[in-house]
Amino acid sequence: MKEEYLMPTYSPDDVCFIKGEGSWLYDDNNKAYLDFLSGIAVTSLGHNFKPVTDAIKDQAENLLHVSNLFKNNLSNKLAKTIGALINGIHGFDEIADESDVDYGKVFFCNSGAEANECAIKLARKIKGSQAHKIISMENSFHGRTLATLAATGQKAKQVPFEPLPPDFVQVRYDDIDAVADQIDSATAAVLVEPIQGEAGVIEPSQSYIKELSDLCSKTGVLLIVDEIQTGLGRCGSWFKFQDSQIMPDIVTSAKSLANGVPIGACWAKTQIANEFHPGDHGTTFGGQLLACRASLATLEALMSMNAPNQTKRLGEMIKDKLKDFSEIQLIRGDGLLLGIVLRDLDAKQVQLNALRHGLIVNAPRLDTIRIAPSFLISEIEIDTFLIKFRQAIDDTKQDENS
Ligand SMILES: Cc1ncc(COP(=O)(O)O)c(C=O)c1O
Repeated sequence: MKEEYLMPTYSPDDVCFIKGEGSWLYDDNNKAYLDFLSGIAVTSLGHNFKPVTDAIKDQAENLLHVSNLFKNNLSNKLAKTIGALINGIHGFDEIADESDVDYGKVFFCNSGAEANECAIKLARKIKGSQAHKIISMENSFHGRTLATLAATGQKAKQVPFEPLPPDFVQVRYDDIDAVADQIDSATAAVLVEPIQGEAGVIEPSQSYIKELSDLCSKTGVLLIVDEIQTGLGRCGSWFKFQDSQIMPDIVTSAKSLANGVPIGACWAKTQIANEFHPGDHGTTFGGQLLACRASLATLEALMSMNAPNQTKRLGEMIKDKLKDFSEIQLIRGDGLLLGIVLRDLDAKQVQLNALRHGLIVNAPRLDTIRIAPSFLISEIEIDTFLIKFRQAIDDTKQDENS
């Protein structure tokens, strides 16, 4: 079917998936594709992961939705679990009822952009009308709402919608002095991705996130870490900021939080979260039973498999197996979020050729292929990826020579 009834905000490849199982997708001709992208870092447990599917079915048969005017028995439990993971506590047994840990508080919504929108509003509420500037980074990606677009450091995405909300500035990524130069008495928060996923899996230097945290503490500016792509085990830690031994004021999460069911979460330290009062922010669907139930089943599975260990191990295995590809200049990223930088090859063309060979990857930059496979991929599937990736590269070389 043609896409003529959809607003042309995407130009999708000409393939229509109708079924998924594990790391495999099947199109309407029953052709199988190895999914090494997982949505875009969404289905960390693969497709049709039984415990999540069962939880969704069971919840649908009981109760799908109640409004946030009433309590529900799942969102609070999920919020505490997220707070525990942010504190590095993983395992439902370890999540004690009473403890010294600040589990913080969560606002649930339906997407990454909404989670960041909530973070921006919260920061501005805390700092009051005098301090509303949000500093973010060049080439960052934080979403497509007007405020999150204003925070997204990509001119091409911003220009058609100018004038954007004021008081958002972007500075060079991985440049602590550039942030320091921008911080003044009007600054509410610094917003940063610990790895820039959409920009092509760009990692900052090792000390950067710690330096940012120190700078924010020293100047009384809030630190918001956007873990929407990097969090929940994908990059070899529960949240990537944890590698820097810091605790942000606000953390945003979405994408893989319910393995494909729409959900977003804005977490904040308790003292900060308590600056929101009834009426300050809201949502019809955020925190709904179905998404919370799917998310609890997702987190339970991620915790029981020790997702960070798993992604670290598999990521190293993939990097090791790619060593013999002379066409690869370097591999960026951590765990199972990797940016494969190609030598003199059009990455978009490699992406298209890979699709023809039944492999799903994507090209966020002209020279970079991003992979974000399921945490449950087998070694055999990794070897299948290598075969298909080799074919895609060889085809691209041929295309370029003909
Ligand atoms: C780091 C980051 N922040 C925010 C977003 C926006 O999330 P959503 O598309 O769910 O609004 C994305 C999506 O790619 C992202 O990668």
